[in-house]
Amino acid sequence: MNKQEKILVTSALPYANGPLHLGHLAGAYLPADIYVRYQRLKKRDVIFISGSDEHGVPITIAAEKQKVSPQAIVDKYHALNKESFEKIGMSFDNYSRTSLPLHHKISQEFFLKLHSKGYLSEQTVTQLFCEHCDRFLADRYVEGICPICHAAEARGDQCDTCGRSIDQIQLIDPICVTCGNKPVIRETRHWFINLKNLQPQIKAWLDTKTHWKENVKNFCEGWFKTGLEDRAVTRDLRWGVQVPLPGYENKVLYVWFDAPIGYISSTIEWAQNIGQPEKWKEYWADRSTRLIHFIGKDNMVFHAIIWPLFLMGHGEYVLPDNIPANEYLNLEGGKFSKSRDHAVWLDKYLKKFPPDPLRYCLAANAPETKDADFTWKEFQQRNNSELADILGNFVNRSLTFLQKNFDNRVPQPGEFDGLDKEMLSRLRQAPEEIGNLLENFEVRKAVSAFMDLARFANKYFNDQQPWITLKQNPQKCATTFHVCIQVLKGLAVLMEPVLPFSARDLWSMLNFSSPVADQYWEEAGNADVPMGHQLNQSKILFQKIEDDVMEAEILKLKHVTDKTNEQQKEQIMSEKISYDQFKTIELRIATVLEAEKVEKADKLLKMKIDLGDEQRMIVAGIALNYTPEQMVGKQVVVVANLEPAKIRGIESNGMLLAAVTDDNKLSVLVPEKEMPNGSKIR
Ligand code: 2FM
Ligand code: ZN
Repeated sequence: MNKQEKILVTSALPYANGPLHLGHLAGAYLPADIYVRYQRLKKRDVIFISGSDEHGVPITIAAEKQKVSPQAIVDKYHALNKESFEKIGMSFDNYSRTSLPLHHKISQEFFLKLHSKGYLSEQTVTQLFCEHCDRFLADRYVEGICPICHAAEARGDQCDTCGRSIDQIQLIDPICVTCGNKPVIRETRHWFINLKNLQPQIKAWLDTKTHWKENVKNFCEGWFKTGLEDRAVTRDLRWGVQVPLPGYENKVLYVWFDAPIGYISSTIEWAQNIGQPEKWKEYWADRSTRLIHFIGKDNMVFHAIIWPLFLMGHGEYVLPDNIPANEYLNLEGGKFSKSRDHAVWLDKYLKKFPPDPLRYCLAANAPETKDADFTWKEFQQRNNSELADILGNFVNRSLTFLQKNFDNRVPQPGEFDGLDKEMLSRLRQAPEEIGNLLENFEVRKAVSAFMDLARFANKYFNDQQPWITLKQNPQKCATTFHVCIQVLKGLAVLMEPVLPFSARDLWSMLNFSSPVADQYWEEAGNADVPMGHQLNQSKILFQKIEDDVMEAEILKLKHVTDKTNEQQKEQIMSEKISYDQFKTIELRIATVLEAEKVEKADKLLKMKIDLGDEQRMIVAGIALNYTPEQMVGKQVVVVANLEPAKIRGIESNGMLLAAVTDDNKLSVLVPEKEMPNGSKIR
C-alpha cells in the first residue's frame, strides 16, 4: 500500500432511538476507531465517517412509546450518543445525522439516479394494514411467527432468530405491535430494487473479494443459495426522506435505502465543515479509495449485497473494499436486550469508569470470528491484572525509580548486555508485528502482542535488578533505565489506538511536546529518546477496581433479570394452571430456629429452619423488613422442593414465602395458628 492511497472508514450509523450499549461499541465502533487511529499513526490519508440513523420505524416506535415527536427522539439520542462516542474516544472526522436537509437531498438524488437508470420498478403489492390504527404496518410495526424458522416475535421486515428477511404477508398470526389487533390485507404501490435480476452481477463482484472475512463470505453465499428477492425501497410512512416522485407524496424511502447514503452525506458535511466543499469527491469519486465499512453482523446483507448494488447502479462512486463485520457481544452469558434492560449502557458506564479499561477489555475480547461474552469479572481482571499490574506497573516502577535516583532525567547508557539487547530488539520489532495484525483487522491478537511486550518489559526490569545495581553497578543501572524509557516511549505510541487517553497521559509524563497521536508508528520501536531528557511527575496510569464495585454491577444485572423473570412468572401465573401443575410445588410449614444477617448483603437473612423431619438452611431477602430476632421462633411457609440455589456463596435449600408490593412492603406468610413443622399446604 502506498502513502497516497485514500482510506475511507465508516462505522454503521446507529439508530438514534435509545442509548448505545457495549454490544454496539464492540461490533461496529471500537474496532473501526482502533483501525483508524493506527492508520493515522501510519500517516495514511484516512477519514472516519459516521452519524445517527434518524429514520425508520425504530425511531417512530420509540417516539410513540414515549409520546413525543420523532424529531424529539432523534434530537435527544443523537446528542446523547454523540457525547458518549466522544467520551469513549471515538475519533470520527464527522458524526452527522440523517435528518439533515443535506442528507435528504443526497438520498433523493440517489433514488432518482437509480430510477432513471432502470434499477427500480414500481409494483402493486399487498401489505398488512391495521384498521384500528388506520395505517399500513411497515417493518417493525407488525410482529408474528417467522414463516421460515417458526420463531415467535419475528418482525415485519426480518426475523432476528434466523436472520432472514421476511415478506410480512407471510408472517404467521401477525399482530399490530401498537394496538395488538390482527391486521387485514390491503393493496398499495411501492418502488422495488430488482435484486432477482441483479444477483449474478453482485455475486460476480463478491467472488473477487477473496480477502474478506470468512463470516461475511459465508453469509453472502447463504443468501445466494436461497436466491435474492426484489425488495421494496419505499414505505407507507410519514417520517423519513420523502419519495421524490409524483403520487408518492405520502411515502418515504425505506430507512435501509437512505441510511448507507448517510456515509456519503456525512462525508459531504465533513468537507463543508473543513472549508473544502469538493473534497469529499476525492474519496467517493475515486475508484482507488479503500472504502471500509465496519458493521455488526445484523447489518451484513445491507452492506455486502444491497448497498454495493445501489452503488453499482449509481455508477459514480467507489464500491466497498472490505466489510469487516463482527459477530455479537453477549453480556454475562445472555444476549444484550433493550426490552429486558439486560445491557451495560455506555453513557452509564462512562459516569462511573474511565474509557480506556473498557476499550481494552472489548478489544482484547473482540467478537471478531465468533460471538464473545462481556463479564464484569473479566473486565475487572483485565483492568487489574493486565492494565494495572503489567502495563501500569512497568510505567510506575520505571518512572518513580528514575525520579528518585536519576533526577528524573534519562540517564546515559553504558554498554548494552544481552538482556538490554533483547529488550530493544523486541521493541524494534513490535510496530511491524502489531501493525500487521491491525492491518488485518485482528485486534484481539494485536492487543495480546502489545501486552506481551509490556509483560516482557516487566520481566526485563526484574531480571536487571536495578535496586541492587543502583549501589553495586550504577552504570548498569543507568543503562537499564535508559532502555526502560525507550520502551515506555514505544509503548505509549503503540497503545494509542486502543488506549488513547492513557497514551496521552503517559506521553505527558514522558514530557514530549508534540502529541502522541502525531507520532510515526514505524518509529515507535526506535530507541531515540536522548539522554538528559527531563521527565515530568509520574502518576498512576490505571486504578484497580475493587470487588464490591464489580459485585454491585453484577447484582444490578441480576436484579433486572430477576425482575424480568418475575414479570414472566406473573405472565405465566395469569394464565390458568391445572391442579396437577400446582401439586408439583411442595409448600410446607417450618419454624425458624436460628437467623443471622448475611455479611455485606443488606437485604439477606440466613436462617436455619425445622421442617419436621429435617433441618435446612435457607437464605431470604427480608432483612430490610425483619431483624434476625423477629424471625427466630416464627412459623413460616416455604417451597420445600425448590432446587438449591447459591446466594452470595451460601446454599439456600428452599424459598420462604412472603407478600410483597412494588414499593417493597413485605410480610412473611405465617399460619393462622401453630401447626406441626412439615405440614403440607394444599
Ligand atoms: O442497525 C442499525 O443500527 C442501523 N441503523 C445501521 C445502519 S448502517 C448504515 F447503513 F447506515
Ligand atoms: Zn394497530
